[in-house]
Amino acid sequence: MSTVIDGKALAAKLRGQIRERAEAFRAERGFEIGLAVVLVGEDPASQVYVRNKIKACEEAGIRSFSYHLPADAAEAEVIALVDELVASDKVHGILVQLPLPRHIDERKVLARIPARKDVDGFCAENVGNLAMNRETIVACTPFGVMKMLEEYGIDPRGKSAVVLGRSNIVGKPMAMLLVNADATVTVCHSKTKNLKEVCAAADILVVAIGRAKFVTADMVKEGAVVIDVGMDRDENGKLCGDVDYENVKDKASYITPVPGGVGPMTITMLLYNTVLAASRS
Ligand code: GUN
Repeated sequence: MSTVIDGKALAAKLRGQIRERAEAFRAERGFEIGLAVVLVGEDPASQVYVRNKIKACEEAGIRSFSYHLPADAAEAEVIALVDELVASDKVHGILVQLPLPRHIDERKVLARIPARKDVDGFCAENVGNLAMNRETIVACTPFGVMKMLEEYGIDPRGKSAVVLGRSNIVGKPMAMLLVNADATVTVCHSKTKNLKEVCAAADILVVAIGRAKFVTADMVKEGAVVIDVGMDRDENGKLCGDVDYENVKDKASYITPVPGGVGPMTITMLLYNTVLAASRS
């Protein structure tokens, strides 16, 4: 029998604490913490994510500034907006929802956000600090995973951790956080040989590969901790993760469900990072 890691409950607990900190900030400084969210285009998934982020801000007592530009907005227009937000005293964190439309150079836009307002933890300075195990702003999803491990008393020290996926948003920062927590880390991706065997050797398996039910029971060691970052649709259009949950759950010691696992933690850590950015301002 495995323990189901309840991301929803942990997120609710942390959001309560974040709300208290946001209220204390307002009482001390006389104005609210502000997060700017920039969406360009009509990507349906991005629209849902952005809506959820804005709602979470409201509930946490953080003021949100929401900008929705059309899909054909010029790159210069997006950059001008970001520059304006960088200059604003009311805005402590800036989030540009990704992916941006193809005609816009994502790197150019993100490069305008200074580390102090980069609540996504995407910029080179924040990533570099993470690599060097220094104080920084950490990307929300992997940060949320670490909070889950901590909450459930799972110490990565000395454990074999396998991260499936090498994205800048999840896989790479996840691997760095686990190394910083003294795990022995392997990062797997589409070119990895013997993927099944590598995964099956993991004490902690973090899956962020973006393929529905990709990780099957034979890829999981008995008693492993399985963290599913995926948000996919199965053959019936039902929401599921990258892990074949029904078959893996009895083999794992701890497992995150989809929905209700990592998802609620990602937005929670965005709120957390925004409070952190504001408190440093
Ligand atoms: N698109 C998918 N995930 C994320 C995220 O964590 N931050 C931003 N800005 N865009 C995303």
